[in-house]
Amino acid sequence: MRIAVLMGGMSKEREVSLNSGTAVTQALLRKGYEAVSIDAAEDVAGKLKAVKPDLVFIALHGRYGEDGAIQGLLEVMGLPYTGSGVACSAVCMDKVLTKKLLVADGIPTAPFMVINKGLYHNSRSAIHAQIMNDLGLPVVIKPATQGSSIGTTIVREESVLAAALEEALTMSDQALAEKFIAGVEVTASVLGNEEPVVLPLIEIEAAKGFYDYEAKYTPGGSAHVIPARIAEDAAKKVSAIAKQIYVSFNCLGFSRIDFIIDSSGQPWVLEVNTIPGMTGLSLFPDAAAHVGMGYDDLVEAVVKLAVDFWKVG
Ligand SMILES: Nc1ncnc2c1ncn2[C@@H]1O[C@H](COP(=O)(O)OP(=O)(O)O)[C@@H](O)[C@H]1O
Ligand SMILES: [Mg+2]
Repeated sequence: MRIAVLMGGMSKEREVSLNSGTAVTQALLRKGYEAVSIDAAEDVAGKLKAVKPDLVFIALHGRYGEDGAIQGLLEVMGLPYTGSGVACSAVCMDKVLTKKLLVADGIPTAPFMVINKGLYHNSRSAIHAQIMNDLGLPVVIKPATQGSSIGTTIVREESVLAAALEEALTMSDQALAEKFIAGVEVTASVLGNEEPVVLPLIEIEAAKGFYDYEAKYTPGGSAHVIPARIAEDAAKKVSAIAKQIYVSFNCLGFSRIDFIIDSSGQPWVLEVNTIPGMTGLSLFPDAAAHVGMGYDDLVEAVVKLAVDFWKVG
C-alpha cells in the first residue's frame, strides 16, 4: 500500500507537524508500507496527483490541516485519509463551536464568552467590563482557531486584558474568554472508530506553571505523569466524557481531549485535538506505550482504522 504522509503545511504549527510527519513516515517504512512524505505548504493537490497514494496520512496540525480544509480537498480528489472527517475536524479546530456543542451535550466546559473582532474594536471597554463581571480574574484568553497554546494568555491583571484580546484577535476572527480553572491538567488519548478505546490518562506538569508553546516543545518544559494523580472517580469521569465526546462529535481514528480537574474532582473539558502531536515525545504515543503499543504499532493502528473506514483495497 502506498501512503502519502502530509506534513508541514502553512499553519503556525508547521515545525511541530514536520516532526510528527517525519516520525510517521519512518514508522510506516519500518512497517513495510511504501511511504512518501509530502510538504503540504504549496501545490498539495499537484503533489498528491503525482504520488497517487492509496491512502493519505494527515500529519498536519492547525489551520489547513486539522480544520477540515485538507480533508475536504481529499474528499473531492477521492483520496481516503486518516483521522476525522470534514465536519468533525472543522468543529474541533474552532474552540467556540466546540464549546457550544459541549454545552448542547451537557458536558462540563468552563464558562466562557465569545468576543468577535469587529464588535471588540467598537466597544472595547464594555467588553472588558463584561469579562470582569461575568468571568472575573484570572481569565484565559485564546483565539478560536489556533493550537499549541499560540495566542493564549492567562490574564491575572485587568491591565493586560486588552493586549491579550488584541493578540488573540490577530490570529482568529473570534476570541474566547474562559474562566480560569485551577487544578490538574489531564489529557485523554482516544483510539478507534465506532468503538473507541481511551488510553491511559496523562497528567501534564508544566515546569513553569502554564503549558504554553515552550513548555510543550522544549525538552524539560513539561513532564508527563502516568498514571495521572487524580482520584479514581475523577479518572473514570474523564474517560467516560472523552468517549462520549468522541462518539458525539464523530471523531475517527484518533483524537486527544484536554481536561482540567478542579479541586473537587470535577473534570472540565478544554478542547478536542483531532490530529494529536505524533513526535516521538508527544502525549498520544506516550499513552499508547503505556499499554504496550509502540510508536510504529500506533501509526499502523491509525492506518488500519482508516483502511476499515474507507474500505481501502
Ligand atoms: N480555562 C482554563 N483554565 C486554566 N488553564 C487553561 C484554561 N484554558 C487553557 N488553559 C491552559 O492553556 C493551555 C492551552 O489551552 P487549550 O485550550 O488546550 O488550547 P491549545 O492546546 O489548542 O492551544 C492548556 O493546556 C492549559 O494549560
Ligand atoms: Mg490543548
